[in-house]
Amino acid sequence: MRSFPPYRAQVVIDIPITTREEREHALAEAGYNMFNLPANMVTIDLLTDSGTGAVSARQEAAAAVADRSYAGSDSFFRFKEVVTNLTSYPHILPVHQGRGAERVLFSSVLTSGQISLSNTHFDTTRANVELLGCEARDLPCVEAADLDSMHPFKGNIDLDALERTLSGPDGNRVGQVLMTITNNGLGGQPVSMANLVAVSQICRRHGVPLFLDAARFAENAWLVTRREREYAHRSPREIAMEAFQLVDGCLASLKKDGIAPMGAFIGLRDPELAQRCELNLIATEGFRTYGGLAAHDLDRVARGLEEVLNPHYLAARAEEATRLAQLANDAGVDIVRPPGLHALYLNAARLLQHIPARRFPGHSLACEMYLRGGIRCVELGSLYLGELDDNDELVTPAPFELVRVALPRRVYSQSHYDHVADVLADIAKNPQGVPGYRIVDAPALLRHFKLRMAPVPA
Ligand code: F0G
Repeated sequence: MRSFPPYRAQVVIDIPITTREEREHALAEAGYNMFNLPANMVTIDLLTDSGTGAVSARQEAAAAVADRSYAGSDSFFRFKEVVTNLTSYPHILPVHQGRGAERVLFSSVLTSGQISLSNTHFDTTRANVELLGCEARDLPCVEAADLDSMHPFKGNIDLDALERTLSGPDGNRVGQVLMTITNNGLGGQPVSMANLVAVSQICRRHGVPLFLDAARFAENAWLVTRREREYAHRSPREIAMEAFQLVDGCLASLKKDGIAPMGAFIGLRDPELAQRCELNLIATEGFRTYGGLAAHDLDRVARGLEEVLNPHYLAARAEEATRLAQLANDAGVDIVRPPGLHALYLNAARLLQHIPARRFPGHSLACEMYLRGGIRCVELGSLYLGELDDNDELVTPAPFELVRVALPRRVYSQSHYDHVADVLADIAKNPQGVPGYRIVDAPALLRHFKLRMAPVPA
C-alpha cells in the first residue's frame, strides 16, 4: 500500500492564480531572474525547501508559550534537550540560520591558508570558507558525475581522494572535513553510513576535525533505511543519532529538517572549541541561549525536530518525490537519478538540446516553467556555476545544466505536482520552441541573485 502523510490541513493560504500575460510582464520586469519575482506572482513556489515548510499546530502551540527571557529561557532548555538527545553533543549553540552557524564555526576552526574538504560545500558554506582566506575543496565520489547512474549513495565523498589529500603535500593544510548530508549541491543525493564511518576513521587517523553539515539529516537517514541493507531495520532516529556520534560536531540549518521558518545550531564535543564559538556567537549573533533567534523560533524548532523523524512523514515525503520524478520521466524529462527527497534536479541540457550552454538551457527551462505554469524554480548549471568573461559571455560551462525543483515540506498536494508534470509535458512536446537567454547585467559576486537576463529566440 502507498504511504500517505500523517497530518491533514486545517489552516490554508491562497495561492495566486495568474494569466500568461501577467506572468510574461512580471518575468520581464524581474529581468528574467526568479529571485526578482514578487511571490504574489508565483502560483507554485519550488524555489527552495528552506524556511518554506508548513508548521504544525503543535509547533504553533509551543511557540505561543515561548519564554522570551534574555538569558536562560525555558525555550532554550527545551530546544537544548531535544538537540542534545538527538546529537549527543554536550555543547549546543543556537544560531539565527545555517550561514551564521558556518561563519561562527569556521572562524573558530580555520585559519587563513587552510583547506576545508567536503563531499560538496553548499554555496554559502563555500563562501564562508573562502571569506576566511581558506580553500573549499570538493571531493565528490566518481559516481556523482553520472547523472543517470542509479548508484544509491552519489552523495558520498571519494574516500581515496580524501586519503590521498590528507597524506599528500596539502595534508598539513587541511583544517577540517565537512560532510554535507544530504548533498544539496550534487542532486540531493544521500551519504551512506559506510562512507561516514570510513571518513570518520580516516579523519581520526590524520587528526583532522570532522563535522556534519546536517541541514537534511532526517532525509539522509530515511534514504539510508531504504538503500543501505545493514540499516533497513533501524529507525531514522537511530540512524541520525549514529551519524552525529561518528563525528566531532555539526552545524545544521533548521529551516530544512527543523521544519521551521528560521533557525540553526552548532553542536560540539570539544569544550575549548565550543568556548571560542560561544564568544563569537555572543559578539555577533546573540547571547548563548538564543543566538539571534526569537524564543518562539526555538520552540518551533524543538517540535519540528521531533516531527521530522516520524517514519510515516518521511515515507510520505519520499513517495511524493518519487511520484513527481516518475511523472517527469513519463512527460519526457530526465532527472538526476535516483531521486532524493528535498528536490528533483531536471536535466535541462538533455531536454533543450538546441540551446547551447552559453545560452543557459537550465535557466531557459526554469523561465518556461514559470511562463507556462506559474511555477518558480531555479537553474543549477552554467548561469550559477560557469565562468564568465568581462562581457558576461560564458567561457567555462558547468559540468551539468540542471533545474532544481525544491519540494517544501508538508505544503503542496499531489494535484499541485500534477500541474508541474503537466507543464513539463507541455514543454517536452515541442522543446525547440523554448528560447535561450543572454546576460544583460551581472554583478561580480553572488551573481545569480542579482543578474538580469533577456531571451534570445531559438
Ligand atoms: N547547508 C546546506 C546544505 C544548505 O542547503 C543550506 C541552505 C545551508 C547550509 C545554509 O543554510 O539557508 O539556513 O543559511 N540551503 C537553501 C537552499 C538556501 O535553497 O538549498 P541557511
